[in-house]
Amino acid sequence: MATERTLAIVKPDAVARNLVGEILRRAESAGLRIAAARFLHLTKVEAEGFYAVHRERPFFSDLTDYMCSGPVMVVAFEGDGAIATWRGLMGATDPAKAEPGTIRKDLGVNVEQNSTHGSDAPETAQTEIGYFFTALDQVARN
Ligand code: RTP
Ligand code: MG
Repeated sequence: MATERTLAIVKPDAVARNLVGEILRRAESAGLRIAAARFLHLTKVEAEGFYAVHRERPFFSDLTDYMCSGPVMVVAFEGDGAIATWRGLMGATDPAKAEPGTIRKDLGVNVEQNSTHGSDAPETAQTEIGYFFTALDQVARN
């Protein structure tokens, strides 16, 4: 499998419950390596920019309010098949439908407050990593 990078966010619900370490531990245990990391509190405009692909969705306003309701931990992970690996660790969007042992099943609150974000394809990973990190912020780990 090719070495990839993916953009992960520990969302406000998980940061508020002191789950940053638990979530990073799961990622590192699966072999994902941290290439870049930031802890920040998004503004509404920054959250809207990040989730711009969803701007026509009925949940866009609630989602962007939630994403700027508290700080988030933003991480670029690197690893073989990192995009699928991280999405597998997260599980389905709705914690009620996610597999046991996944982050969202074990830690998520509801379909909105589902504890983590993960890029869904190489193109979105590149765009999303670029939204938060410059080239100088990123450390090669392979
Ligand atoms: P993400 O982008 O955050 O990794 O999640 P995802 O691909 O599994 O899900 P996506 O369809 O991209 O939705 C983005 C986020 O919007 C919130 N959401 N709320 N109220 C709702 O029905 C609803 N549906 C989605 C979730 O926070 C979801 O992760
Ligand atoms: Mg998505």
